[in-house]
Amino acid sequence: MAIGVVLFSLILVLSFVSPIYSLSSNYYDKTCPGAESIVANAVKNAATTDKTVPAALLRMHFHDCFVRGCDASVLLNSKGNNKAEKDGPPNVSLHAFYVIDDAKKGLEAACPGVVSCADILALAARDSVVLSGGPTWDVPKGRKDGRTSKASETTQLPAPVFNISQLQQSFSQRGLSMEDLVALSGGHTLGFSHCSSFASRIRNFNTTQDIDPSMHPSLAASLRGVCPTKNRPKNAGTTMDPSSTTFDNTYYRLILQGKGLFSSDQALLAVPKTKGLVEKFASSHKEFMDAFVKSMIKMSSITGGQEVRKDCRVVN
Ligand code: HEM
Repeated sequence: MAIGVVLFSLILVLSFVSPIYSLSSNYYDKTCPGAESIVANAVKNAATTDKTVPAALLRMHFHDCFVRGCDASVLLNSKGNNKAEKDGPPNVSLHAFYVIDDAKKGLEAACPGVVSCADILALAARDSVVLSGGPTWDVPKGRKDGRTSKASETTQLPAPVFNISQLQQSFSQRGLSMEDLVALSGGHTLGFSHCSSFASRIRNFNTTQDIDPSMHPSLAASLRGVCPTKNRPKNAGTTMDPSSTTFDNTYYRLILQGKGLFSSDQALLAVPKTKGLVEKFASSHKEFMDAFVKSMIKMSSITGGQEVRKDCRVVN
């Protein structure tokens, strides 16, 4: 009886804190049966002409889910006095928003007002992984789009200088485990990073060391070449791993060699639990793929919104 009351109260409290609605794989089967192929085509068309698109969409989905849940708040434009997430410091390097607009246009023509922008982004992230040679999975759908987006809230995103306990805290606050942290960090097998994201590791690291001792000297030397202090081009940087358009487990092998790009990548070796997982994923492509899929479904199920937006850049 007492347990029943506690459970009931918990459900009541939770229903106020976060909107509870369940996602399902067949959510649009009746209302918009072509939804998945419309999104897949938009992603494929864009990726054919621009190889940087898949990485951009995967990161966009992660940044969406970590602020206010996966509610497409990252897609809203700033308006009037309100500076949106998109214009917050960690998000200024996000790009390829036009791919989501293209998909939305196709979806509004086929089934107006039905498919949320948050679902489009979750599907586009999955399609991006598939197009890069990674695993596929069924994306649970039925997310709603949020009506709020604040640049100030992007400070809630994990930073590349985070240590393992900061990373653990950031993930656990969203119901994600250490295993999710290690598996999802594998997203860094794709894409590009600007110098600013790792600059503190390659010069003036601390009062006694110029270079982060956890970074392999050969990587530090080449990064210093790519990122000169003077006359550095605005878009200077490096690919996250040498096979940066292929979704593979190279990322983990590099970490074991001291060649992780960010402190937050290299930090995965700091405690035995995450180090063991890095070793496991480095030695088994399949273990990585399976874990990545499981954790992506978990991350992309953090819900938050209220409506189905007509235009992904503005609230209804
Ligand atoms: C664990 C905490 C994480 C931190 C601190 C972090 C940080 C960063 C930073 C600083 C960049 C480079 C941005 C730039 O300089 O332009 C980046 C890129 C990227 N991140 Fe993460 N990230 C994390 C987790 C994730 C997760 C969970 C995913 C997806 C599952 C992800 C996917 C990506 C991708 C694909 C890129 C390349 C983006 C592009 O080429 O446009 N990251 N990340």
